Amino acid sequence: MKKIYEKPILIKQTMGMINKFQSGFNDQGMTEIDGVKIKDIVEKFGSPVFVFSERELRKTIRSYVQAFKAYYPNVVFAWSYKTNYLGAICSILHSEGCLAEVVSEFEYQKAKRLGVPGHKIIFNGPCKRSEILEVAAADGAMINIDHFDEIFRLEEIAAKRNKKIDVGLRINLDSGVYPQWSRFGFNLENGQALTMVKRLVKNKKLNLVGVHCHMGTFMLSTKAYQISAEKLLQFAATLKEEYKITLEYINLGGGFPSRNRLKGIYLPPDFSVPPVQDFAKMIGQTLHEKTNPHYMPTVYFESGRAVVDDSGYLITSIVGSKRLVDGKKAYILDAGVNLMVTPQWYDIPVKVGVDFKGPVEDSILYGPLCMNIDVIRDFVRLPPLSAGTPLIFHPVGAYCVTFWMQFIEYRPNIILITENNEIEVIRRKETLDDVIGNEQVPERLKKFKL
Ligand SMILES: Cc1ncc(COP(=O)(O)O)c(C=O)c1O
Repeated sequence: MKKIYEKPILIKQTMGMINKFQSGFNDQGMTEIDGVKIKDIVEKFGSPVFVFSERELRKTIRSYVQAFKAYYPNVVFAWSYKTNYLGAICSILHSEGCLAEVVSEFEYQKAKRLGVPGHKIIFNGPCKRSEILEVAAADGAMINIDHFDEIFRLEEIAAKRNKKIDVGLRINLDSGVYPQWSRFGFNLENGQALTMVKRLVKNKKLNLVGVHCHMGTFMLSTKAYQISAEKLLQFAATLKEEYKITLEYINLGGGFPSRNRLKGIYLPPDFSVPPVQDFAKMIGQTLHEKTNPHYMPTVYFESGRAVVDDSGYLITSIVGSKRLVDGKKAYILDAGVNLMVTPQWYDIPVKVGVDFKGPVEDSILYGPLCMNIDVIRDFVRLPPLSAGTPLIFHPVGAYCVTFWMQFIEYRPNIILITENNEIEVIRRKETLDDVIGNEQVPERLKKFKL
């Protein structure tokens, strides 16, 4: 077979000790996911292809539930739909006991269609339209109010139904993490949240049963959760003392980090990301101290990325390579920012899908889009690789398959590797009909001559 020509270049290599970019050589590829060969997956389902590991997903959610329950038995996890609302993924998490946490009409309807009863849905988000609020109110969903106009709308619905509606208040607070996410909910420290409580009490149309606080995402500080839990429980105590309101639940949101590699953080995730047990200990001890057998509210978590990220892989293939004018090696892949929005925040670890030989060099990875922004890794050390070689991005389970865009390409197959190492297609590759199915070309435009 004709050998591939690689123009000779000089690359400085650091031999011996591992340097800050790890060792200079590593010829071990990643050839399997959960015992299934990458080669076989690509042959059967094409490239690119998303792969989810059911085993990993179940293991992760179990480890979260177990870690938190060890400290506080009244903990319930809800699945944050926006992180990944593939029916199969949601169903696996529901089968593990997770409720649904949704932030839009679409997500609400999807959860119900999957079989989640309305009263097991937590309804968050800044844009809950009246029609879906009416449905949620009738269903007895856990509605967490985001802003003042939503209070108006819910009071109107309650008046129309001639029945009080149970609600929660979304609260934002200072937990020492900046920038503070103050655009959602009512602020605690400046008294806005308490003012809303006074309003609810006075108008007697809505029943306050819970508080909610999602501080942010990829939170590396366990202390921030401790502060948030303390402040919410203090707020609950004030409500009890001053308004005789006993909150049924405290919702501490999501935000736990996955084991992805955040841009700008020097240390790899194994060193920079605290394990779930640290979060559980910090929060659990606070809950333990600040509650008692006479007052043990349900504590909800809506963890997204930490639960699903690790279970998702994207197999993509090299379409071609080139050397840029500055001498840097560039690879063009068949998947880019159309399928992974997360390279904006992460340097997603990438593995070569075959065993390889040869010195690694700084490379840049481009996607298939005819757009300059389509860069998935601007710096990764790779050996010389030929067209057709599979590369595996992992973890990509969170936000990719919801944030993805249909821009010039079809969205690919998504497969699930079951706990028995069998493959199930959980979303088939799009076709032209899927993409243009909703379009309508007016009759007068249907004929043209060129
Ligand atoms: C209200 C709410 N809950 C939960 C989540 C899930 O967050 P994460 O993926 O950081 O756990 C989000 C995501 O932004 C959110 O907005």
